[in-house]
Amino acid sequence: VCCVAGARVDVCAEPLQRNVLLCVQAADLTIQLSAERLKSAPAAPKSFGTVFTDHMLTIEWTEAEGWGAPRIQPFRNLSVHPACTSLHYSIQLFEGLKAYSGEDKRLRLFRPMLNMKRMSKSAQRVCLPTFDESELLECIRRLVELEQDWAFLSESSSHLYIRPTFISTEATLGLKKPTSALLYVIVCLVGSYFSSTSEGLSLWADPKYTRAAKGGNGDCKLGGNYGGSLAAQAEAQRFGCQQVLWLYGDDQQITEAGTMNVFLYWINEDGVEELATPPLDGIILPGVTRQSILDITRKWGEFAVSERYLTMDQLCSALEQRRVKEMFGSGTACMICHLSHIVYKGEKLSLPSLDGDSLLSTRITKEVEDIQFNNEHISWKLGRS
Ligand SMILES: *Cc1c(COP(=O)(O)O)cnc(C)c1O
Ligand SMILES: *[C@@H]1O[C@H](CO)[C@@H](O)[C@H](O)[C@H]1NC(C)=O
Repeated sequence: VCCVAGARVDVCAEPLQRNVLLCVQAADLTIQLSAERLKSAPAAPKSFGTVFTDHMLTIEWTEAEGWGAPRIQPFRNLSVHPACTSLHYSIQLFEGLKAYSGEDKRLRLFRPMLNMKRMSKSAQRVCLPTFDESELLECIRRLVELEQDWAFLSESSSHLYIRPTFISTEATLGLKKPTSALLYVIVCLVGSYFSSTSEGLSLWADPKYTRAAKGGNGDCKLGGNYGGSLAAQAEAQRFGCQQVLWLYGDDQQITEAGTMNVFLYWINEDGVEELATPPLDGIILPGVTRQSILDITRKWGEFAVSERYLTMDQLCSALEQRRVKEMFGSGTACMICHLSHIVYKGEKLSLPSLDGDSLLSTRITKEVEDIQFNNEHISWKLGRS
């Protein structure tokens, strides 16, 4: 990061960079209001990510000029060169976080600095420039503040989903480090997930597909990681399952469930009660929800909480010996999602389905919600006057 405490500085961490890199500066933010505010019908969106609010945040960057002034402007289509390297070589990345509405009619962002840090890490992975994380967060806060009424339009759209995106705008078919880029943030409506505490998600596991590999970039939210997972997802659906349980390596390690981190609550092979999730060894996306679950359950101190490898063999024998208590996925989209069964080697492995209230996932969900909606220290209120 080439910026210090919000001040413009012209020192850069990269010694080879000749040009001065300026920071993203929230103080330079300009706001151009849309003529048609709250124009769209506020009906609950039929599917995720289809109804957007009226404004977007854009910040341009060039190697020569550094970061331009952040702008909040009416939501609009982008115009990019057909050779733009984000389209050809996926020199781009994204983030996903939500603003939650509380009973006091205020919105809160949940641990948003973790998203900013992860975004910065993704940028480094595709040689896009870094930025001042707290300055960008302040710009996003201003955007959400402007759009906050969208979150209170109806019962069904109780929070906003925020999608920071960062793309190379370099117009060349040459594969090279970008010299121009656009960082933008759009906001969409999401229905409440509380109604959908269903029977749980079904997963299909087959070692022929791998989501991420050691030394690769599966630990970054780069678009290319997701487009390439669709064929496996389609195959899972042909097997009657909703998502893929991604396996890795000859020992068929359990890594992630769809685009969620995965947790196993069980009596482990040493007879110890344990909540386990795979370690961040490069093939796991470091989820904010994952980290929060680890933090919360470690604080409880009621059972072992481990970041450790879990293989299909270990899961299968634990299921045979009735040592599995519960399995769930975690991510911003659904927060915590109970898993019902896994189709593996032509067999259906049923996961225990206790009644909702006794589930560990239900208990964790309650505590995370308390933080999202009420706790002033971790979440971050938007002013609502
Ligand atoms: C985004 C994502 C997650 C969840 O991360 P959160 O920060 O909890 O939303 C997990 N796995 C993958 C592959 C993801 O892209
Ligand atoms: C933006 O692009 C979409 C899809 O190409 C198009 O349907 C829409 O009319 C465009 N909007 C404007 C304002 O040009």
